[in-house]
Amino acid sequence: MIIAPSLLAADFSRLAKESARTSKSGADWLHLDIMDGHFVPNISFGPAVVKAVRPFSKLFFDVHLMCSKPEILLEPFAKAGADEIIIHVELGEQVEPLIWKIKNLGKKVGLAVNPPTAITEAEPFLDKIDLLLVMTVNPGFGGQEFIHETLPKIQQAETWRRERKLPYRISVDGGINNQTAAECARAGADTFVAGTSLFGQRSLKAAVTKMRKIVNGADPGLADLAI
Ligand code: DX5
Ligand code: ZN
Repeated sequence: MIIAPSLLAADFSRLAKESARTSKSGADWLHLDIMDGHFVPNISFGPAVVKAVRPFSKLFFDVHLMCSKPEILLEPFAKAGADEIIIHVELGEQVEPLIWKIKNLGKKVGLAVNPPTAITEAEPFLDKIDLLLVMTVNPGFGGQEFIHETLPKIQQAETWRRERKLPYRISVDGGINNQTAAECARAGADTFVAGTSLFGQRSLKAAVTKMRKIVNGADPGLADLAI
């Protein structure tokens, strides 16, 4: 199980310290939400910020591109220190070439699916990706409420992975707290992106420890009860 705090919910006036704090919290990855004001109605930060915080963290950098033109950003983020780059399946025919470009940069590849998009849109790419990100809110802003209707998509992703013996991770992002993380874990998720619920706690370390304990204890046999 991977716990990935999202830097979007950190204190932007002290990002270096926040990155260092996350690095020491027991979290596995740092999730970095990149918003371009076009693919989503909000702007966050770019490669220069990722490069600036990189020396303050030893964590795996999971860079989530919510951007209409990721092709112009792949190299800058790869150079800035991304370990994985996630693009959105909603980009249509651009997806396949983008996947190969990310691989050629020597980075892991993630593919994200928005709540209104059918999970079947991701099916053709399952054998080419390292991670499938099931968005559990409509992307653009932190602090939104988890959309329960996304749970069957996690189950479908898990069924495909098992049946086809594929190694991709199943990540969830948006409205993840201890309660919804447990529901996602029971449905088959293994990677949990959480902003508000983790950074909102006084002790990030205690919050990460608790979430890890909860998702590790979630019984997959109870998946149907979660829906
Ligand atoms: C949503 C982003 C998320 C966001 C999650 O647009 O992709 O990663 O930071 O934030 P919370 O956990 O606050 O919903
Ligand atoms: Zn994200």
